[in-house]
Amino acid sequence: MYVRAAAALASVTGSVVIGVLVLPTAAQAAGKHGGPVVIAHRGASAYAPENTLEAIDEADDLDATWVENDVQRTKDGALVIIHDTTLNRTTNVEELYPDRAPWNVRDFTAREIAKLDAGSWKGEEFTGERVPTLHEYLRRVDHNHQKLLMEIKSPELYPGIEAQILRQLRKDGWLRYDHVTRRLVVQSFSADSMRTMHELRPDIKTGFLGTPAVTDLPEYAAFVDQINPSNTTISADYVRAVHAVRGAHKEPLEVNTWTVNDAATAQRVAALGVDGIITNAPDVVREAVED
Ligand code: G3P
Ligand code: CA
Repeated sequence: MYVRAAAALASVTGSVVIGVLVLPTAAQAAGKHGGPVVIAHRGASAYAPENTLEAIDEADDLDATWVENDVQRTKDGALVIIHDTTLNRTTNVEELYPDRAPWNVRDFTAREIAKLDAGSWKGEEFTGERVPTLHEYLRRVDHNHQKLLMEIKSPELYPGIEAQILRQLRKDGWLRYDHVTRRLVVQSFSADSMRTMHELRPDIKTGFLGTPAVTDLPEYAAFVDQINPSNTTISADYVRAVHAVRGAHKEPLEVNTWTVNDAATAQRVAALGVDGIITNAPDVVREAVED
């Protein structure tokens, strides 16, 4: 009954039915603005400290539905949102813990990291922003009714992080049908990590960060739905070649390119036919690519 209802809905919307899952097409995922999906990189990180709750609120203020982040693990096993594998560029860790160089994320406890100021490096007005836990981050994304492109950063440093992330996603309600089918993609520069994620939860959409050779695309397509390359590495031929291969959910592989922060580059990659543009400045990119 449920499958029939899903199929009927899909026939109206053009979505794709996999078992009882209805996955949105790239065009549907583009949302109300049309054109490529605009994804706020580390939140709206041109305007607020990257990977903080303020950065996703700023993305929300700019009407960015999708946000991207980076997940890592602390010494005592907490999942936190931060890009670098060290804490010193984006927090005041050197001031608080001067004798703890090289300030690796994985050498600090969650309690120690919670004391850090992750905002003042970006501007005095952001003083007091914290490094969020994954739990805090997911709650805020939910509160804002946003969608999440979650990157597992340097998974080779954090054995078992894929299963741990899934446990947290489940606790926070992110493995529910509506989240898995419409609001979550997990990506990494590590193909091994994405293979593991796909094996653990085949229903979750995954992406590989990089520009694999066209001849290798079928191999990646066994466990990912997206190929997400740097904008400096792609051509129209490459985007076409990626789209010609069906991914893990039997749909054409999608392309989200990064990191595009100016109008001219946004227009260039949109003309190449990409599905999404990952940007620090979602307002700039949207204005550039809107019809
Ligand atoms: O989402 C694409 C982008 O985040 C990959 O590079 O270094 O900013 O995590 P990086
Ligand atoms: Ca990232």
